[in-house]
Amino acid sequence: MPEQFQILVINQISEKGLAMLPPELYSWSRSVEMPDAILVRSSDIHSLEISPTVKAIARAGAGTNNIPVKAMSARGVPVFNAPGANANAVKELTLTAMLMASRNLARALDFVRALDPAEPDMHTAIEDGKKAFAGTELAGQSLGVVGLGKIGCLIADAAIKLGMEVRGFDPGITVEAAWSLSSQVKKAQSLDEILRSSTYITLHVPLLDATRGLINARNLELVQPGSVLVNFAREKVIDEPAVRAALDSGRLRAYVSDFPTPGLHRHPKVIAFPHLGASTAEAEENCSLMVVAQIRDFLENGNVENAVNFPNVSMPRESAYRIALANSNVPNIVSQVSSAVAKAGLNIHNMMNKSQGDVAYTLLDVDSPVAESVVAEIAGVKGILNVRYLPRLE
Ligand SMILES: NC(=O)c1ccc[n+]([C@@H]2O[C@H](COP(=O)([O-])OP(=O)(O)OC[C@H]3O[C@@H](n4cnc5c(N)ncnc54)[C@H](O)[C@@H]3O)[C@@H](O)[C@H]2O)c1
Repeated sequence: MPEQFQILVINQISEKGLAMLPPELYSWSRSVEMPDAILVRSSDIHSLEISPTVKAIARAGAGTNNIPVKAMSARGVPVFNAPGANANAVKELTLTAMLMASRNLARALDFVRALDPAEPDMHTAIEDGKKAFAGTELAGQSLGVVGLGKIGCLIADAAIKLGMEVRGFDPGITVEAAWSLSSQVKKAQSLDEILRSSTYITLHVPLLDATRGLINARNLELVQPGSVLVNFAREKVIDEPAVRAALDSGRLRAYVSDFPTPGLHRHPKVIAFPHLGASTAEAEENCSLMVVAQIRDFLENGNVENAVNFPNVSMPRESAYRIALANSNVPNIVSQVSSAVAKAGLNIHNMMNKSQGDVAYTLLDVDSPVAESVVAEIAGVKGILNVRYLPRLE
């Protein structure tokens, strides 16, 4: 019987995913002292002491700001996420946000809620009051999508189908995303172009140093008066005082956000949701199925897919004996590993090595069992962060 893998599960992770962990191989709970892997959703684990036994961390979601990714890279620990698993959920709520702003629905709902049911002529009050909430339609309006990743692409396509004129800006768009986009989506050359040309602007970029305060006092000056800004990306991609000033001056008609902040709380032109973008049963299930599959494939086979700090490295198991190693991305490590393997008389069956940033990752399949001393010798090579011997689980 192979050793059991222990998984520390932080937060509520959909049961459908956890059910993919076979009980004869895995045990999981909310309190594991020496876990092999951690599954987490939104909890911030920067201050958590992460056991040296941890070989992988998976975020059942897209962003990984709540995980100490840099520290994990230095330990040779991949941090997985679930790109795209919640994209449809965010797309639907972003469209809802645009409709709420265009039809003044938040204020209209407040109005209805404040009506007195004891009032004899409620119908007259409704007919008199509704004029204040007359809106505009989305069809024919211009939409600027900032960030054409998994979410931005879905929104761009849906907005085209709603009859909007759509422009997108993404200097790092992937080939896959570009292929998936409708040809009717126009390509903007800059963020400024998006801001100048769109009456609805929606943000779908990750929070990075380069995107912090992406929407700020300077570029809000370019926005057409009465525009709507939608932020389902992250709180800090906008400069809050600048957005407040733009709302007060009428430059922005509405700011719809998934990130309520004290400075904009109860502002009459702000509609804020409590970080609901990915909160659907379907998204949670998709995320959990995806990350559990990734964690299993990594723990059992060493394969890496969708880690934010590791290259994708994946090989079918042709031979039963595999060494998986992570190392600092410096010269001469693979040759030292190969010579340790050759010295032990092991024949290399297949090998794959890739690097990403400071980390390189190698899968090395050999034709016969690997002695502990060989693994120890590889672990001793300068620059090696992590080595695992992974005989195939029958
Ligand atoms: N509100 C929520 O609950 C919720 C849920 C999921 C994701 N998100 C946020 O949405 C973001 C996008 O998610 P995704 O799945 O589409 O990610 P993604 O990685 O598929 O796409 C992000 C895109 O942004 C682009 N980008 C980066 N910097 C840019 C810039 N300065 N200008 C224009 N484009 C830029 C990238 O090239 C990439 O194509 C996530 O990083 C996360 O912060 C929020």
